[in-house]
Amino acid sequence: MENTQILKLDIQNNGVAIVEIHRPEARNALNLELRQALSETFQELSTNDAVRSIVITGGDKVFAAGADIKDFTTATTSQMYLRHTEQYWQSIVDCPKPIIAAVNGYALGGGCELAMHADIIVAGKSAKFGQPEVKLGLMPGAGGTQRLLRAIGKFQTMLLVLSGKFIGAEEANRMGLVSEVVEDENTISHALELAATIASFSPIAVQQIKEVTNLGQDLSLQGALALERKAFQILFDTKDQKEGVNAFFEKRSPNYTGK
Ligand code: CAA
Repeated sequence: MENTQILKLDIQNNGVAIVEIHRPEARNALNLELRQALSETFQELSTNDAVRSIVITGGDKVFAAGADIKDFTTATTSQMYLRHTEQYWQSIVDCPKPIIAAVNGYALGGGCELAMHADIIVAGKSAKFGQPEVKLGLMPGAGGTQRLLRAIGKFQTMLLVLSGKFIGAEEANRMGLVSEVVEDENTISHALELAATIASFSPIAVQQIKEVTNLGQDLSLQGALALERKAFQILFDTKDQKEGVNAFFEKRSPNYTGK
């Protein structure tokens, strides 16, 4: 398991994995080493059957202040191209397990983009979100324009990416950029509770829900509804589906085996 100084991984007995970014001296800025570590960790978590849901956090103070700006001082176009950082992000995109971002403090630039790779975003009241790349003569490069657009619409996206302004958790919640706002000291514990609840459900049902919801975003409504219907029907061939329904009538907790 990946467990470096800059990225900590803990897998609990209840099937919840906690991934914690730890570069406090650089406000958790995502340098190449960290992105590589994140990518490898998510690949491992994707295939580890003991893991049913994942919480990603930067700890109590900061989620991530974006890409490491030091990497940008002398970089040329060809160097940036050849870094192929999209492959690191793709490991998170490809992860079939639900991911909850627990955001305290700043989630800026690549940090906001990292949060948007999650399926649920829990934010502490003092969290701050933003895409300030424009202030550096740059623009978002890991989904900032496109994931925001799909999450909060054109006019709120343009406001954030063109002004570079930071917004608080409540405003982000109103825009639809976060799922829930909680007291700062409860961000991680709340995300862990949510992850534990999800981990207690049938992993096949959970993963189908995630897959269909994400794929449906880019399909026509008719195609997406057909995809949803087929996934719904597929679940009837699982032991977990029968177990869930039987447990309901037998007034007991279901015992899901992931089969
Ligand atoms: N990269 C590298 N180092 C960073 C960093 C970053 N993104 N953000 C902060 N740091 C470093 C600072 O340079 C500073 O280092 P020193 O102690 O060696 O001077 C240290 O972290 C602490 O930073 P501050 O003193 O600035 O701390 P603060 O609490 O006053 O402010 C902050 C925090 C608002 C996050 C501020 O540091 C900031 O604005 N950071 C840059 C945010 C940003 O522009 N992010 C976008 C990056 S580009 C990007 O992400 C591209 C992409 O989409 C892929």
